[in-house]
Amino acid sequence: MYFVSKNVNKYNEIKELLLDNGLTHLRLEHKKIELKEIQSNFLDEVATVKVKQAFELFGEQVLIEDDGLFIESLNGFPGVYSSFVYDTLGNNGILDLLKNKTNRKAVFKSVIAFYEGKNIKTFIGEVKGLISDNIQEGGWGFDPIFIPENAEKCFGQMDLNSKNKYSHRRSALVQFYKWYIQNINKIVK
Ligand code: IMP
Repeated sequence: MYFVSKNVNKYNEIKELLLDNGLTHLRLEHKKIELKEIQSNFLDEVATVKVKQAFELFGEQVLIEDDGLFIESLNGFPGVYSSFVYDTLGNNGILDLLKNKTNRKAVFKSVIAFYEGKNIKTFIGEVKGLISDNIQEGGWGFDPIFIPENAEKCFGQMDLNSKNKYSHRRSALVQFYKWYIQNINKIVK
């Protein structure tokens, strides 16, 4: 199965998650390609369009992932626009928007979508947390500012294994894996 994403960090985390959790029935090959993102208010709609594109490109079973950081005091912003906001405002810009806010609650969401040419399946994972007061070192994307619930440190300060214990990605991937194993015989090769 191909994991299609321009982001090698996502692939590395997923590879490690599969290994660590003994999810050995799934062999993923990374196809490092940027898929187009439609504008939509729903993460699973974006993921559905992306996974169709991925299938059109490779004609094999494909897996893609789409994420968003939803900040409570900003009414869910940047949400589905997280990628654009990260590229334009960055973590500094997010902290500026939260300068006078005491509510630092946020949710990181991951949608994993699978398509084998017949049915699209999507799986949503999320992790609640807080936006830190300062940018910490390490990690990628929003890792330096996102502290998962029940943790002392932000994702950026954790090693891969620790981040994977909490992450939105883990939750979506485990759901997908369970479904995949149950349905593997019905899935068209
Ligand atoms: P994407 O559209 O799925 O690539 O994700 C939206 C934004 O969230 C991008 O800027 C990613 O870098 C960022 N992002 C997604 N997952 C993570 C994560 O696990 N840690 C930090 N940033 C992430």
